[in-house]
Amino acid sequence: MELVNNRYTIGGVDALSLVEEFGAPIYVYDTAIIRRQYEMLDTAFSGVRHKIKYACKALNNISILKFIRSLGAGLDAVSLNEIHLAMQAGFTSQEIMYTPNCVSFEELKQAVALGVAMNIDNLPLLEQFGKEYGGSIPLCIRINPHIMAGGNLKISTGHVDSKFGVSVHQLEELLAVVEAHSINVVAVHMHTGSEIADAEIILKGAEILIEMARNFPNLQYLDFGGGMKVAYKPGDKAVPTLDIGAKLAERVNEFSKERGREIEVWLEPGKFLVSEAGTFLVRTNVVKRTPARTFAGVDSGLNHLIRPMFYDAYHHIANISNLTGTQQQYTVCGYICETDNFAWDRDLAEVREGDVLAFHNAGAYGFTMSSQYNARPRPAEVLVHNGKAHLIRTRETLEDILRNQIVVEL
Ligand code: LLP
Repeated sequence: MELVNNRYTIGGVDALSLVEEFGAPIYVYDTAIIRRQYEMLDTAFSGVRHKIKYACKALNNISILKFIRSLGAGLDAVSLNEIHLAMQAGFTSQEIMYTPNCVSFEELKQAVALGVAMNIDNLPLLEQFGKEYGGSIPLCIRINPHIMAGGNLKISTGHVDSKFGVSVHQLEELLAVVEAHSINVVAVHMHTGSEIADAEIILKGAEILIEMARNFPNLQYLDFGGGMKVAYKPGDKAVPTLDIGAKLAERVNEFSKERGREIEVWLEPGKFLVSEAGTFLVRTNVVKRTPARTFAGVDSGLNHLIRPMFYDAYHHIANISNLTGTQQQYTVCGYICETDNFAWDRDLAEVREGDVLAFHNAGAYGFTMSSQYNARPRPAEVLVHNGKAHLIRTRETLEDILRNQIVVEL
């Protein structure tokens, strides 16, 4: 979102006019920002052969997936349905990596039948996989390197207590299963957390992964996962992409020399590509003063954007209806029957009932984590591309809430 001539615009389109046209609450995405982020990452890793597999759990609207594919990206999926969405968006099976965790062997078999690249994150499944397929299907193994990375514990996935991956300390067991079934390991993977800003920790994880990779003679690529941080708060540090890209490229090229074959780098960014591209626009229902504070109650809640309540995540908020209003403190809350505060005591330009508030950085894990809690419909989604706004998902209605219910006569 940009401030142009005292109006907030998204991809060149006036944000308030989007609310007039499509209503509130509404998610709006800007393709120009997704492109900017993709190109930044692509450039940062230009020193090594690499593939960018967009982690579509962050935002999986098919129109967005199509756009991201048009940039040259592949896709990382965590469920069969994400694979199906990707295929509907035009991704071929060769472009899709399937990185599930704790799924059934049945689900794995269905993914194999779809022909996508397979990433396995535990030994019991690997054993079953080996028995069924032997070495006929090339496989990536997710490693848990036991490092603490990421913005907070809830989104940290590579530490010793995490459910994800095969522990680095289980190398012997891993090799025994691989050998017993002649499994064809072509890659090792790690994803150690989300919102990692520290280059050192990424490089440390990479060293551990390379060390593990030495055990697999058929190795073709190293998958370093996602987790690159973007700035959420004003003044926040983003991940130093250029620095990390250059260092990882150098390290992997060195490893390629040692192996005598070119090893590719795979990356799985989610937030990095889409977080800043998304803005969530809501309308203020009520401004309520209590002896403790002033609440700005909006027509949304944890059902639409759960990150502040679930992770204590900071989302920058702007009152886009009253740019010149005096700054005052508001606790911005939702209409859900829970304490669903988006922000406590936040400085905002004076908020009046009816004003539109804009949440920044709402592109990743906003809509995809939304629900119908309190029987509230999910919001609409709009994509702005080349200065034109397209509705890419209609607002849900009562019909959607009733869709799967079966009324029994008791
Ligand atoms: N690859 C794998 C295997 C992952 O599990 C994830 C995210 C990603 C890539 C992409 O991570 P990113 O680049 O978006 O950080 N809902 C949380 C984030 C959970 C991330 C889950 N896995 C949030 O809203 O902060």
